[in-house]
Amino acid sequence: MINREATHATLKLDGATLAYRDAGPREAPVVLLVHGFPLTGRMWRAQQAALEPSWRVLTPDLRGYGGSTLGDWPTDSPSLTRYADDLAAILAASGIETPVTLVGFSMGGYIALEMLRRHRAQIAALVMMDTRVVADDEDARAGRIKMAEHAAEWGSHRIAGMMRPKLLATSAPEAAVRETLAQIEQADPAAIAASQRAMAARPDSTALVASLDLPLLAIAGAQDTISPPEEMRAFARSAPRGEFHEIADAGHMAPIENPAAVSAVLAGWLDTLRQERS
Ligand code: MLT
Repeated sequence: MINREATHATLKLDGATLAYRDAGPREAPVVLLVHGFPLTGRMWRAQQAALEPSWRVLTPDLRGYGGSTLGDWPTDSPSLTRYADDLAAILAASGIETPVTLVGFSMGGYIALEMLRRHRAQIAALVMMDTRVVADDEDARAGRIKMAEHAAEWGSHRIAGMMRPKLLATSAPEAAVRETLAQIEQADPAAIAASQRAMAARPDSTALVASLDLPLLAIAGAQDTISPPEEMRAFARSAPRGEFHEIADAGHMAPIENPAAVSAVLAGWLDTLRQERS
């Protein structure tokens, strides 16, 4: 296979510009990396470097983040389905008709579950990273609505400070802390508000995952308190073809806190899948 320079592509959709990176050999099987809240596709840099020699890797900035604009998304009652439909449109615009491996980190995992509901034919395998399949309880929902209501007033700098203790292990490397906070500090408060409302409204997906007819890999940072490893292990076990892997020395931001371990697990699992299929 011939590798190529990464392409930075954009797609106009419903008043928004969606930006995404498309890299790796064009004829290779596709991996779609979906970032978390309120981050950008840049969170996947280490995994891109690990996968791009042998996979075609698509890394979007979700609507409102990084190089993508919010467009005319109605931010009073947003749904994660909007992000899922954006991802399907990016695959179509990239000429990708063969089902892909979908990798969702945290909010990206919630979006992956919406992809399963709405665009199942486009998914060959699923990786759920530091994420949950249950809906929010009342307290979590109320916390999200409060942040949505105050996002403009608080600003993304303060929100980054508020989120930091939950996102990163106390032992997280300084570079991982810096990178995570820098991404959040650049986030548009309107996008933060839209995502929080959309996450608060998401349905429970426990039954969906327990009946999943796809290979599933769940990956959790050992010190993740947002999507604890025990919870992730349990939903991975509930899936007929589920596997679970814990990442040492990492909290919720495992792909940034321990990038080498996450990349190795991901690349190893993808290679095994590819061998089984060939
Ligand atoms: C994320 O990392 O995407 C968020 O922490 C997810 C959430 O707020 O549930």
